[in-house]
Amino acid sequence: MSLKLDTTFLSDYVSDDELKSMQEHVDAAAAKVINRSGAGSDFLGWYSLPDDYDRDEFIRIKAAAKRIRANTDIFIVIGIGGSYLGACAAIEFLKGSNYNLIEKNIPKIYFAGNSLSSSSMNDLLAMCKGKRVTLNVVSKSGTTTEPGIAFRILRRFVEEQYGGDEDKIRERIIVTTDKSRGALKTLANKKGYESFVVPDDIGGRFSVLSAVGLLPIAVAGCDIDAMMRGAADMKAKLSKSGCVFENDCYKYAALRNILYAKGKLLEIFVSFDPALSMVAEWWKQLFGESEGKDGKALFPISVIDTTDLHSLGQIIQQGRRIMFETFVDVKNETSDIDIPIDEENLDQLNYIAEKGYTMSYVNSVAAKATKTAHWAGGVPGITINLEDRSEHTFGGLVYFFELACAVSGYILGVNPFDQPGVEGYKSNMFALLGKTGEKYDTIRAKFDDKA
Ligand code: PA5
Repeated sequence: MSLKLDTTFLSDYVSDDELKSMQEHVDAAAAKVINRSGAGSDFLGWYSLPDDYDRDEFIRIKAAAKRIRANTDIFIVIGIGGSYLGACAAIEFLKGSNYNLIEKNIPKIYFAGNSLSSSSMNDLLAMCKGKRVTLNVVSKSGTTTEPGIAFRILRRFVEEQYGGDEDKIRERIIVTTDKSRGALKTLANKKGYESFVVPDDIGGRFSVLSAVGLLPIAVAGCDIDAMMRGAADMKAKLSKSGCVFENDCYKYAALRNILYAKGKLLEIFVSFDPALSMVAEWWKQLFGESEGKDGKALFPISVIDTTDLHSLGQIIQQGRRIMFETFVDVKNETSDIDIPIDEENLDQLNYIAEKGYTMSYVNSVAAKATKTAHWAGGVPGITINLEDRSEHTFGGLVYFFELACAVSGYILGVNPFDQPGVEGYKSNMFALLGKTGEKYDTIRAKFDDKA
């Protein structure tokens, strides 16, 4: 089994009776997902995706990835939010955060269009000079400002690099967008760019197992067949029982709602491996954008330990008791290393080295010590144990969190599949930039001179 939930560090905070009392809420929420009868049910395509994806497109994705690996020095994924976080999370999970420094047989992979920072764009352009660059622009709507601006700049760079030779440029630009509509689809049709589909019924933050995530992940040399199998195996496993004591996904969804009802306001995603820092970012978007509406929801934050034990660890241990932690532990590290014995022992660490404890063993002890200390300090903890950092496990983890998020959101009483709140800043920005037809909110207008 690639994923297992452990609730040891919830003891004294959540009782079996409390969990049992959630069964009817879980049943109702799960029925909304399975029967497609809840709010936002047009966006449930991810639910059956592991069994029911477009096999022909999958073959095209693998062929494109092979070609890109052979003819590209720098592969740039242009997208924001759900259009990049999943791919970024997967690649770091599978290859570690230093893959661009270490890997020799794949292109360098960069993510652009997820900010409006001109200096990071200039840095990227400087790195691309004289290199064979391929762009994958990912946008379901095709009109999102940040990737739109980045694509304009990077496309111009590629066009200039190839002196306007349309055939060569065509080889360098791949579009992932709506199957038939939108600005990007229109451009792809006009220019003959290869394009992949963001399915109509899958929102950005649920799209990592579609072409959105799969193409960049395959370019990184990862096994996307194993990833889809992992998701399908997880789906099968979670379909066996709806009981909150047997189904880890439903149990997690129920526990988060119990803790929220008891006054916990923050859920902290904790990993003891920096390879999971982008998984944490993906998870924050998934839960934050899906649940944070109608004045409700746990605020999802993340820490990477042990580094954050030397910063946020203080507030977790002794700040306001409004939080709980969700630890995502990896059982089998990808590699391990011995700690050398030092004759002088000035740092007094020989007591570890002499016992033959490896670095990853010490890390696992740090995790146990943290869970115990935080539990005793008033911060309950849930642990999600992962077998390893493989493609199969990643696919399973994605599916686990997507289903947990949908069920949890329905228990909370929100539509987990919309994001009306992200429009606020957009309409103000458009109005301030002078887009025709946009009005700057009159209340906020008073801040104009201060902004
Ligand atoms: O999850 C979501 O729906 C969002 O994060 C979108 O993915 C994000 O806003 C980017 O949208 P688009 O793919 O239309 O450019």
